[in-house]
Amino acid sequence: MLNNEKLSALAQEYGCPLYVYDANKIVAQYQRLENAFRNAPALRINYAMKALSNINILKVLKSVGSCVDCVSIQEVQTALTAGFTPNNISYTPSGVSFKEVKKAVDLGVKITVDNLSLLAQFGDHYSNIPVSIRINPNIKAGGNQKISVGHSGSKFGILTDKLDEVIKISTSKNLIINGVHMHTGSDILDPEVFLKGAEVLFEVAKKFKNIDFIDFGGGFKVAYKEGDPTTDIEYFADQLTQRFNQFCQSYGKELTMIFEPGKFLVSESGKFLARVNVVKSTSSITFAGIDAGLNHLIRPMYYNAYHHIENISNPNGAIQNYEVVGYICENDTFAKDRPISEISEGDILSFSNAGAYCFSMASNYNSRFKPAEVMIYDGNDYLIRQRETIEDILKNQIEINL
Ligand code: LLP
Repeated sequence: MLNNEKLSALAQEYGCPLYVYDANKIVAQYQRLENAFRNAPALRINYAMKALSNINILKVLKSVGSCVDCVSIQEVQTALTAGFTPNNISYTPSGVSFKEVKKAVDLGVKITVDNLSLLAQFGDHYSNIPVSIRINPNIKAGGNQKISVGHSGSKFGILTDKLDEVIKISTSKNLIINGVHMHTGSDILDPEVFLKGAEVLFEVAKKFKNIDFIDFGGGFKVAYKEGDPTTDIEYFADQLTQRFNQFCQSYGKELTMIFEPGKFLVSESGKFLARVNVVKSTSSITFAGIDAGLNHLIRPMYYNAYHHIENISNPNGAIQNYEVVGYICENDTFAKDRPISEISEGDILSFSNAGAYCFSMASNYNSRFKPAEVMIYDGNDYLIRQRETIEDILKNQIEINL
């Protein structure tokens, strides 16, 4: 359990800034999803590893039966390193070159293509290898504009008005279309959105005779603060399973139901710990400046995302409003007017929901080191990524003699 005492001890031992993940929480989320869909004819959960790609997190998920969703050849290589077999790796990239797809084929993973040109190239080379297609269901949903990716104005997937062309290409090149896929967006609360998307996929799947699976993507909404509404997974699972079973009956085959959750599995497992370097007041604002910035956790700046912040060094102090800011030479504000128990320089702040899209979106901006990562599993803590050093920053630079 990641209580404040444990987190303070970890910050002491490993230093700040530090990412800490509770692997038991990840396993619990996985099992909740698996259990919710227990009545599906067959279920495959592909963890969307872009959310958090440390190989030890991948190994934990693999050990409980998860498969993995990769969107780049480098993610495929990482998943293989973590021990996933090619058969348990799905590759669902967007807008990649055919050269990269070829590499994925050589590695033996399952391929999804998201545009007609790639489908045609695939058919020219690999008509004997089954391939699935990513459909754009034309549904606008998701927590914000940047993560809403299933509508007609988005670059992702093939719109259903292009289905005739898909059929033409697949027929002329003898392609075996074995699955249909969608990913509508992230932070989607309403189960009806997923159910509506599912109907689009059923309509598409009907048109192909070799379908083995339907992939409904990821996007379930988790809580970012107490009382935050979340996707009702159990209700959604009941509704979709019923409809899926009906579809399988009419299709004449028991298909596999696939999901690709990222946030649902790992968001709440993570905490980000940073130390306060400076407390500074103006007539109206008290800033708490920490030893981290948009280079370590960009979600508040990029999506305006809310991350709950607690002062674990003084949890019972008087509540005051703070503007929590980073040390990057830009306006990297984590939170404005945020009530937090009184902060002194040297205190440690803990950011919640730091499991998904936090470390994985970190950079070296301002030539800063990426943080270390620690995983807690069954009461033991493991350093799973060491803090970078100046050698990492300089590693690929080539100095020329001027
Ligand atoms: N499948 C595909 C093809 C995806 O592109 C994504 C996420 C997922 C599954 C998993 O979605 P999730 O269950 O995590 O919502 N960086 C943003 C989220 C971007 C998600 C991109 N694709 C954030 O921090 O909110």
